Amino acid sequence: MGAILSRRLDDVFDIGNGVGANRVGGTSEEDEACDLVAGWMEEAGLEVERDERGNIVGRLVGERPELPEVWTGSHLDSVPEGGKFDGALGVLGGLDAVAAVGRSGRTLGVAVFRDEETGCHGSRWRARHGVLPGAYVELHVEQGPTLDRAGAPLGVVTSIAGIVRCSQEFGGRAGHAGTTPMDVREDALVEAARYVLRVRETAAGIEGAVATVGELEVSPGAANVVPERVRLTVDARAPDGERLDRLVAGLGLEDAHYRIPPVALSERVRAVLREEVERAGAPVVELPSGAGHDAGVLAAARVEAGMLFVRSLNEGASHSPEEQSSEEDIALAVDVLTATLERLARA
Ligand code: HGY
Ligand code: MN
Ligand code: MN
Repeated sequence: MGAILSRRLDDVFDIGNGVGANRVGGTSEEDEACDLVAGWMEEAGLEVERDERGNIVGRLVGERPELPEVWTGSHLDSVPEGGKFDGALGVLGGLDAVAAVGRSGRTLGVAVFRDEETGCHGSRWRARHGVLPGAYVELHVEQGPTLDRAGAPLGVVTSIAGIVRCSQEFGGRAGHAGTTPMDVREDALVEAARYVLRVRETAAGIEGAVATVGELEVSPGAANVVPERVRLTVDARAPDGERLDRLVAGLGLEDAHYRIPPVALSERVRAVLREEVERAGAPVVELPSGAGHDAGVLAAARVEAGMLFVRSLNEGASHSPEEQSSEEDIALAVDVLTATLERLARA
């Protein structure tokens, strides 16, 4: 990958304190990353739009600005202690690719969608307000082991898993840890623990489904008090609607407010990506995405959306400082993204 892209990834990764990437959505660290990238967009001659939700779109206006635009991009927010490439590679690699294509027929855009990790809030805001491009290609690390196991540097994404996310509450009765007999306790954490095991067993029983309890709060939260309340979050995913419904039913998540359906990506964009991966001399591997992405929100809003994955090393580690992709694979991916955007912008 080029030296500028490498340095910019480092600069964004260095924002915030602590181990790994710490630019949680809505924080000043996410703002700082957005301001930094907006400056690089302006240096590249792009017209920078900032909307009310804080999303950024850098545009290289084309000879035919009246035609539906072609965007690339991703997000700059991260999970706590996240990796260097999740989101940031799509934004910064996308900026490199648009600069390499230069002024074209259609207007090219580089999007920074805000607050992706907690629910694709930025891209969902743009979808609700109908301010989206005609086509979108997102570059992203795979965040899984499939490409590495296949010996492939790149992957063309076929579909994005559906996600249901919500919190569950468990109630009990606070009591003295030393004087409350075991047979009369109403321990909220024991109930919650049974549910956490049910989450794991239910998902393990549905092919391709996954479910995670990533957050858990115990109240009142003292070593010598029997827990009275527990609040936890469940993140449940499946590759298709039928399996997602089974998972939701098995976990009692029918009332969940946050639900993004599984979505297929654009056949036309996938075909262009496959051809450009082949032209670049890499094996063509197609795979579904277990991770959610802004591309899924755009695809559900009828944008012709596609995704290009870069191989994740370290057994696909992600949402952790162990996230790693090679400079060589990233350089190849930016070349394929550039060629793809060039063709879509001239179509
Ligand atoms: O959670 C996800 O799937 C993504 O990293 N936002
Ligand atoms: Mn991401
Ligand atoms: Mn992520």
